[in-house]
Amino acid sequence: MMKLGVCYYPEHWPMDRWAIDAKMMRSMGLEIVRIGEFAWAKMEPQEGQYDWHWLDEAIHILSQEGLKIFLCTPTATPPAWLVQAHEEILPVDDRGMRRRFGSRRHYCVNVPVYREATRQIVTAMLKRYGARSEVIGWQIDNELGCHNTVRCYCDDCAASFRTWLQKRYGSLEALNEAWGTVFWSQVYTDWKQIRPPSQMVTEPNASQVLDYWRFSSDSMIRYLELQTELIRSYAPGIPITTNLMGDSGGIDYYKLSQKIDFVSWDSYPTGYYETSTDLLYSSWETRPNPAFDLGDPYITGFFHAIMHGSKQKPFWVMEQQAGNINWGVYNPGIRPGSVRLWTWHAAAEGAEAVVFFRWRACLYAQEQFHSGLLHHDATPDVGAGDVEGMAGDLARMTARTQKTDPSPVALLYDYEDMWAMDLQPHRRGFSYSRLVFLWYRVFQRLGLGVDILPFHADLSPYRLVIAPTVYIGSSEKRDALEKYVGNGGHLLVGIRSGFKRVDNRVTDVLLPGLLRGLTGSTVTDWYALPPNVGYPFHSPLPGLEGLAEVWAEGLLPDPGVEALQVYSDGPFAGKASLTAHRYGVGVAYYYGQYPQLEPTMRLSVELIQRAGIKQPILDLPDGVIVKWNDQGLLFFNFNETAMEISVGATTLCLPGRALVEHPNFS
Ligand code: GAL
Ligand code: ZN
Repeated sequence: MMKLGVCYYPEHWPMDRWAIDAKMMRSMGLEIVRIGEFAWAKMEPQEGQYDWHWLDEAIHILSQEGLKIFLCTPTATPPAWLVQAHEEILPVDDRGMRRRFGSRRHYCVNVPVYREATRQIVTAMLKRYGARSEVIGWQIDNELGCHNTVRCYCDDCAASFRTWLQKRYGSLEALNEAWGTVFWSQVYTDWKQIRPPSQMVTEPNASQVLDYWRFSSDSMIRYLELQTELIRSYAPGIPITTNLMGDSGGIDYYKLSQKIDFVSWDSYPTGYYETSTDLLYSSWETRPNPAFDLGDPYITGFFHAIMHGSKQKPFWVMEQQAGNINWGVYNPGIRPGSVRLWTWHAAAEGAEAVVFFRWRACLYAQEQFHSGLLHHDATPDVGAGDVEGMAGDLARMTARTQKTDPSPVALLYDYEDMWAMDLQPHRRGFSYSRLVFLWYRVFQRLGLGVDILPFHADLSPYRLVIAPTVYIGSSEKRDALEKYVGNGGHLLVGIRSGFKRVDNRVTDVLLPGLLRGLTGSTVTDWYALPPNVGYPFHSPLPGLEGLAEVWAEGLLPDPGVEALQVYSDGPFAGKASLTAHRYGVGVAYYYGQYPQLEPTMRLSVELIQRAGIKQPILDLPDGVIVKWNDQGLLFFNFNETAMEISVGATTLCLPGRALVEHPNFS
């Protein structure tokens, strides 16, 4: 059953206010309250001197009202006394500058003193609250990696990096070989010579950087584990999470999620719309134009889907935007209905709890311009009305949004491919996330459910799997994909696949490298294309002809492999850009050009039909999302204006900014 909650900072308000707040939360229909995540200085005002009185009182007052407590460790904000005593806990950026105290996330996870301080505060908290029945779960830290804090370049990180490399490569010879250090005389003769890739004169070594990014991600996860282990020993059986972000900031969320009981994340639709649009849409693509106070549902939905895919389980929204925020661009005020639409959308993407950020707008410090459910003056703000309206309707929300069938399509997403490609994009404007996101938008436009998954997920329930690229062609990925297709799956593999090895060197096997056998095609040439250069191609399939732009590859299919698109002009004339290879009882497609929205929608319709997907295909306008389960369809119109759509034989008119329920049409 769907649950609603709120983020609360009792330490920001006088104690005599807490009971009033608790009562108001309860009457608004909230069940969960998340507290504690930045309160280290209140919990431990001086080293080793703990003050639990206020937190005892807060937990008592909140739970008296029947609210359930989600308690957070406060390690995102080490207090001034700790920093004063141990400056070395402050992280160092890639220009060698040490960060200072005064905001948050000012710590390095590889500094032994900080790890010890973490152990102490978390243990102290657990001794006090680990066995308390009011506490229903623990959140570790807050937004690990936020504000660009995954990669630190301090001396402790350098030392840990060397240890990490020793484990990975065993010997310096192996490392030198893997990194290709003969290039530019980078050969290492002593482990101590190796440093994190910072302050370089020009481009660093691509293998060194990828390893550093892997190491940094592993370091964050190791830090998380330091805390999960403590929580599991003092509070056995209590669910543990940490609040993730849409953009992981350099952490491999698949690896991280294995260490926690469920995934949660922080959803700020207008903030992401204002700050992530350029990260997810290429400059040459048309963009949706959603209502200013709703944000782009593809961006919000993409992040929800990544969260769901991280564990392939329901997740929580640990911070749900509930009014205007303070860190976007224009930070618009929101209107009634926004919070309701976001909450239903989250539920439909697999959220089983939505916790609003924050209870009341703060009167001081950094987030004065961030709204809450209550205004600064404690009167209800616009989000509160939506919350109240929804709280009585959670059973229906649950029934209407619960997933009853697996999605027909899976989209493969891989953090190492992302890092490797983003550190050497080769062509301006090329980005892994944009490439994957384009495919996500394609299936949203077609009204088909799509799950975003790691390569190691069980792909067998899916009729169609899209790997926008398999940039690093590892044998694990190859085996997983061959197994999937061999057993009857339909797989499309996109550009630049198999190009790299795990050590981030280029493969010396014919492209697409390890995927050559599966695709049955050789990529003989590849070109990055500047703007306004395109190569026409034709197709035996009606409507699938067009112009290859941005990135084009020329394919030579093996005998018996179908050429579904063939260049009619340009340097690849006569070569294919799309091939289909029957492999086992499935089909592997290789798609050798950069996907463009409309043509890729047409191609996907063909793939959907060939894969035998029965679910009807829609043709939705931008900004309209559909979700279905056995109770029927839910249409979300995130546009300002009404949209007409055809569903089977009927035409529906969806009012602007609305959620419309519709019975199943089969
Ligand atoms: C989140 C963060 C919160 C708060 C919020 C404001 O990223 O976890 O602590 O700062 O943003 O939108
Ligand atoms: Zn460091």
